[in-house]
Amino acid sequence: MNYIAETGALKKAGLSIVILLFICCRGFAQAQNVPVNFRVDNLICEYKINPIAVDAANPRMSWKLITQDRNIQQTYYEIRVGTNAVSLTKGKDLIWTSGKVPSDESAHVYYGGPMLTSREKCYWQVRVWNNKNQVTPWSMVNFWKMGLLKQEDWSAKWIQDNYQSDTTGGPSPMFRKTFKLDRKIRAAHLYITAHGVFEAQINGKRVGNDYFAPGWTSYNKRLQYQVYDVTSLLRRGENATGVTIGDGWYRGYTYNRKKNVYGKKLALLYQLEIVYTNGKRELITSDKSWKVAYGPIRSSSFFDGEVYDARKEKSGWTEPLYKDATWDTVKTDESIKSNLITTIGPTVKKHEKFLPLKVFTTPAGEKVIDFGQNLVGWVQFKLKAKTGDTIRLFHAEVLDQKGNFYTKNLRTAKQEITYVFKSDSAETYEPHFTFQGFRYLKVVGYSGPLDSTNIATYALYSDMAQTGKFSTSNPLVNQLQHNIQWGQKGNFIDVPTDCPQRDERMGWTGDAQAFVRTATFNMDVAGFFTKWLKDLSADQHRDGAVPYVIPNVLDSVSSAASGWSDVATIAPWTIYLAYGDKQVLQQQYESMKAWVGYIQLHSRNYLWDTGNHFGDWLFYAGTNYEDGAALTDKNLIAQAFYAYSTQLLINAARILKRGDDVQKYTQLLYNVKKAFQSEYVTPNGRMISGTQTSYVLALNFDLLPENLRESAAKRLVNNIQDYDEHITTGFLGTPYICHVLSRFGHTDIAYDLLMKESYPSWLYPVKHGATTIWERWDGIKPDGSFEDPGMNSFNHYAYGAIGDWMYRVITGINTDENSPGFHRIIISPHPGGKLTSAQAELETLYGRVKSAWSIDNGIFTLDVIVPPNATAEIVLPSVTDQITENGLDINTEKEITGIQKIGNDEHLNVGSGTYHFVYTLKTFGKHVN
Ligand code: BGC
Repeated sequence: MNYIAETGALKKAGLSIVILLFICCRGFAQAQNVPVNFRVDNLICEYKINPIAVDAANPRMSWKLITQDRNIQQTYYEIRVGTNAVSLTKGKDLIWTSGKVPSDESAHVYYGGPMLTSREKCYWQVRVWNNKNQVTPWSMVNFWKMGLLKQEDWSAKWIQDNYQSDTTGGPSPMFRKTFKLDRKIRAAHLYITAHGVFEAQINGKRVGNDYFAPGWTSYNKRLQYQVYDVTSLLRRGENATGVTIGDGWYRGYTYNRKKNVYGKKLALLYQLEIVYTNGKRELITSDKSWKVAYGPIRSSSFFDGEVYDARKEKSGWTEPLYKDATWDTVKTDESIKSNLITTIGPTVKKHEKFLPLKVFTTPAGEKVIDFGQNLVGWVQFKLKAKTGDTIRLFHAEVLDQKGNFYTKNLRTAKQEITYVFKSDSAETYEPHFTFQGFRYLKVVGYSGPLDSTNIATYALYSDMAQTGKFSTSNPLVNQLQHNIQWGQKGNFIDVPTDCPQRDERMGWTGDAQAFVRTATFNMDVAGFFTKWLKDLSADQHRDGAVPYVIPNVLDSVSSAASGWSDVATIAPWTIYLAYGDKQVLQQQYESMKAWVGYIQLHSRNYLWDTGNHFGDWLFYAGTNYEDGAALTDKNLIAQAFYAYSTQLLINAARILKRGDDVQKYTQLLYNVKKAFQSEYVTPNGRMISGTQTSYVLALNFDLLPENLRESAAKRLVNNIQDYDEHITTGFLGTPYICHVLSRFGHTDIAYDLLMKESYPSWLYPVKHGATTIWERWDGIKPDGSFEDPGMNSFNHYAYGAIGDWMYRVITGINTDENSPGFHRIIISPHPGGKLTSAQAELETLYGRVKSAWSIDNGIFTLDVIVPPNATAEIVLPSVTDQITENGLDINTEKEITGIQKIGNDEHLNVGSGTYHFVYTLKTFGKHVN
């Protein structure tokens, strides 16, 4: 029974009220024709379950319909919002009610009540009606709480230590305060942020389970604060709190060893708001009464690791009885607070744990542990040594040809943990303000045994729910999918980074645009990208240039590059498609427009052929870097992305009903395409760069006249065959190559590329033991040697962009662009590549979508799940004979409509439900067995 979600409220309400409610609701339900198995669940607000710091003026609510019945559509919904969980269920103390709204929207429905104020807590529930004239009971009660909406809500002052010199790379200051609470506490919330990254404690307990908070944003313009419900950590009487701050992204080392990017001084902003049971409020804030000292963290840096001297720990420092007489005073700082914003995306949390797979000595005599997975996170140990002994831990992604520990590709990043023991007993440790990209750990200074009882590693990444699953009958392809997912985990650390190990770890825009669509299939990245895109807008130059990295820590001069800066249009459009989120288009519209404006400004006669571009980064260079058949003209690429960004801007304008812009940019697009054709395409359709990427971009972005497209696709196929069915594209061509092949009827060639095991290909690294996606096609060369260590990451997600094709084409799960967010689904599987089965699932805002096919002796079976309130078009491939669904001829099932044969494929429409299709497959080509 789920009428009240909040356990606290449940307890308070008492069992009798609950029973009463249950009876009332049942009674009410029966009167309204409520079937037992039709209900509403999974209520979220602004993509979160019960968020406690919302700053949207009109928060958006989403819910899922739960039913086993087929063909269920929502026809009406009713939302009610109130001030109290219990009275809400009686329809009392309401702030707002939507009334019964005729609508099939169950995602992103706006709150439409009176303006909400800071800290206001809104309880809400919803019920829906369906096309079978049924109504659900009122849902469980969920809530959202507003954040601090005005600058005046902050009474806290920024505080800093008084230590004078530039201490970047030095010890982490610890701030401490004691306070007395003289009444019984009803609720307490901590609003906190830092210049730096923080870890807070109250009365000896860690506050929350976030790491690297407040996350990375364009700090000077947007600084997130976090909110924690800390009621259970406080007590009546004496209390103490403490916060440690590390350099983090605020002032720690970044690209080219630049430091202090946002400022030199670490600082804390802390506001603890307590409400007593008598309603009285109390505030504990950061101010001059706090004290500060250095402790065991002697230095911390994302690139370099952490130096921790346990002898300098201040045991009990966040307990009230701790003696802080030797601690120093703090100073207050008048830093701005107008940049404070609530946390939109998921925070970084600790995830999978890995135990040693193998502990061994390398040929060079070094003690190394293999954890079996190239992961991003840190080590945790419980080891015993002698007071003052030092253990040093080094992190590496790979071993070299001889089996030795290899760190050259980390460039200047040290990735080292140094720990000094404080006693002769076993000590437990994990780092604080650093993360490493590694699979192997080299241990120096510790001679005792190391095994799964005393050492482990944890992966840390943004807390995105895993929404997608994909697997096939081919283990190598499954490993590729594993590698793509781990590439995403390791590089989604608050911002989408290029790599997590060497001295970069920045939000490179080109990498993010290449991978964003795949990312939406693996995990819920809606909040993650919504937040990052706001930083993109914030850091976009006045002339519309989108910096190479976001947040922009590189030089402030106006810089932009095709295929990189285009993330400004590609990412919002992708998030819109994946989640049906119009607001992200609204939010980014001016930025999208400004980006296209920048290109216009730098073009002559609609041709963009100026500026510095990275081109088709890390394409297959062959034996000769200037290999004509793989090297794509950079200006051709720029022009192609000019058109694509313009197209996406038109799409967004259409959705947002900006008719003038649709017209204006449609005209622009026409001219941009014409300029592309006259500059880069011969009248017969030959591109001036005869490369895979060149044809892929031209075809994917519809840049060629209709009559030249088929032949261009054929040229692409020829090029691929000239390379013995190897891929030669770089970051820009790779995401689209298989899509283009499929679109023009060459899925068999796309499968050839996917299944190729020799270099360059996706499975080549898999065959070489990769557990993540490599930056280069040949990070480890066929002879076992490494690529140039200056640029050889083994955890770079860009080439993982094939994941999108795997979901959308192999298992064929897609959203209809006219009804995005999988409200209308297209299930169009494409067997091939000698696969005997493939299955994928995707948790969408409507519920779980599934497409799973198998081939056995020429019999094709397809299992499909369409969630309630969604519909689907199913395309059954290569049909010869009668198709059955759950044993029945599909023509006899009234829920299956619009049956139509197009070519060899059977198209049909279904509503929600579970379907099981079986038929004999027409053999086509070498790829179906
Ligand atoms: C990064 C790339 C990035 C590129 C731009 C590299 O150093 O690691 O992934 O997109 O620079 O050229």
